[in-house]
Amino acid sequence: MVSVDLSSSPNWGKSLIPVESVEELAKRHLTQVPERYVKSDEERPAIFESATDLFDSEKNDVVIDMSKIAQEEHREEEIRKMAKACEEWGFFQVVNHGIPHSLIDTLKRIGKEFFQLPLEKKQRYSLRPGDLQGYGQTFVVSESQKLDWGNVLGLVMYPTELRDLNYWPTEPADFRENVNAYNTEAKNLAEQLLALVAESLQLQPDFFVKKFDNAFQRMRMNYYPPCVSPDLVLGLSAHADMVALTLLLQDDEVLGLQIHKDDQWRSVKPIPYALVINIGNLIEVMTNGRYKSIVHRAVTNKEKERLSIGVFYAPRFTEEISPAPELIDDNHPCLFRKFIHQDYMQDYYARGTKEKNSFYEFAGIKN
Ligand code: OGA
Ligand code: NI
Repeated sequence: MVSVDLSSSPNWGKSLIPVESVEELAKRHLTQVPERYVKSDEERPAIFESATDLFDSEKNDVVIDMSKIAQEEHREEEIRKMAKACEEWGFFQVVNHGIPHSLIDTLKRIGKEFFQLPLEKKQRYSLRPGDLQGYGQTFVVSESQKLDWGNVLGLVMYPTELRDLNYWPTEPADFRENVNAYNTEAKNLAEQLLALVAESLQLQPDFFVKKFDNAFQRMRMNYYPPCVSPDLVLGLSAHADMVALTLLLQDDEVLGLQIHKDDQWRSVKPIPYALVINIGNLIEVMTNGRYKSIVHRAVTNKEKERLSIGVFYAPRFTEEISPAPELIDDNHPCLFRKFIHQDYMQDYYARGTKEKNSFYEFAGIKN
């Protein structure tokens, strides 16, 4: 394993092999997907086209209305609903979150504009080996592995000392100011949600606040160009987010996000302007498994491009992660060991697999 000091710069010590850009592949209007992108039979997605196959968050009671949280008469019920969603699904959607819709529209526009730039311009911001910031394809660890049909632009947002403006596009011209404005809003919402998570588990309201002092926040724009055979590829292969909470903006029209539960993949029906909130692996540890991270992936579309924007919220690298003592008792034995956040990040990238089992191997208590 490569040893790197994560406290000074965000370097995850995993080398990265440059690959061709999928935007360029898509422009060639191939009649067949190149072999390197064709997933194994087990991994290939079923593409849900009829509305009946969709996971409807409203029908499943996993939509949290932040405006109700602010009202005394609805607050308790809304928090109870959130707790149930976190226990059963590991994800929910939030509406009336206070982030201006105009800012969301702008963010999606500038994201698409960036990925539509000529390749040479985007390559000024290319990911460098060992660094997860920048433009390109992450998690490329071998020449033989199957690749995802998607590209990303990743940026570290907080703590601000870790921002590396070399990776921040100057085109479109309003990229930087809007990314900054959105991440300020997202940070604020993440903090509110963590306070609600604590409240929903009868923990002290500041339980997480203490742990998230000087929190680490990353943004990643995911771009999935149209693909001639969406049934053979994945835009983003299956994973559980390795952070505490993810706030994801989906495309309002083009389906893509799929969640895994009871051995079944379900496409999440978008709710315009809602944010999809995923419980990440670190919250699974901190809640001693009460709230479980959700395994999910993204599929592609034959005709349409799709953009999603994730904000990943986690404690700083040096923070110790462990289950809340309040959530351990005779009926709820301790499921996870203590570890330092950066050791988990390093282990994750060194293993080169997104299997959730690797997380249990790293953090689970071995009997
Ligand atoms: C992610 C993610 C899903 C999507 O970025 O971690 O799961 O729909 N994205 O792009
Ligand atoms: Ni994810």
